[in-house]
Amino acid sequence: MNQDQLHRIATAMVQPGRGILAADESSGTIKKRFDAIGVESTEDARRDYREMLFRSDEAMKKNVSGVILYDETIWQKAKDGTPLVKLIEAAGSLPGIKVDEGTQPIVGSPNELITVGLDKLAGRLAKYYEQGARFAKWRAVIDIGVGLPTWTCVKLNAHALARYAALCQQANIVPIVEPEVLMDGAHDIARCEEVSQWVLQTVFQELYDQRVFLEGIVLKPNMVIAGKKSPVQASVEDVARATIRVLKRTVPSAVPGIAYLSGGQSDTDATAHLDAMNRIGGFPWKMTFSYGRALQAAPQKAWSGKEANVPAAQKAFSHRARMNGLASLGQWTAALDKAG
Ligand code: 13P
Repeated sequence: MNQDQLHRIATAMVQPGRGILAADESSGTIKKRFDAIGVESTEDARRDYREMLFRSDEAMKKNVSGVILYDETIWQKAKDGTPLVKLIEAAGSLPGIKVDEGTQPIVGSPNELITVGLDKLAGRLAKYYEQGARFAKWRAVIDIGVGLPTWTCVKLNAHALARYAALCQQANIVPIVEPEVLMDGAHDIARCEEVSQWVLQTVFQELYDQRVFLEGIVLKPNMVIAGKKSPVQASVEDVARATIRVLKRTVPSAVPGIAYLSGGQSDTDATAHLDAMNRIGGFPWKMTFSYGRALQAAPQKAWSGKEANVPAAQKAFSHRARMNGLASLGQWTAALDKAG
């Protein structure tokens, strides 16, 4: 393991003003996104769409430190034959790869999910490194409900995340450790705080037990936020304060950075929350974004599968990337966002 390289890459991923584009939707998920804009999800359409994003010069050069790819994309070539990975590198951004293989019901708690994909992971990581991947992602999902999550779910997922992280580091790949407490459901922000704290505390215990090099990871957590169906929604300030409070209680300061998932928040909520946290400050880590939906919803809509819409889609993407870049510095304003 090359600890210097891992630390250097992890630090680059969370550098101020920049964040991560999560473009690693599985074939099933991207189909859902394309259905919503009336585009058939063919291999070429997925390539065209992602090529459009990676050729968005302004966003990629100024505000995107890294791109998480799905297995199909890391091997794909742009229309002119250039590997998509090379487009990302040419923009000064780092290619990364989603390596989990989705979820399965937990034996003994079938309403909860365990993320799978550890078998043969070491071999896959070596191939991804050769292809240019310098970081990876593994997402665990934790649902809040009546009697949920169970300790079984929290413990199993934390163990798998740490096992994945250790294997990544052995392959000189920075692991993004993503334990996502879902914002589906009707729970309030206090319940999300309680569960998020439990999950993060357990994850860091497992990372410690499995001797993961904390200076060479990036944490990708949910923000502490009320469930979508909760009648009481917390203010931006409350979300920011509760999230910082939980992270301070659970995340060692050796970790270089936190890159949040957007998890179904609106584009501007995701940006406003990140900005509010960076304005409050007083924590030891960099805090930035690793958004999927909150970066791509606008460009997807603008693109709608039409070549003629590429410039408009790139403009929409660059705008969201710039807004989130500003939020990573605590310099975003709603007025700037509206100005477009
Ligand atoms: P969202 O920002 O859409 O939650 O996606 C981020 C991600 O990578 C989820 O695994």
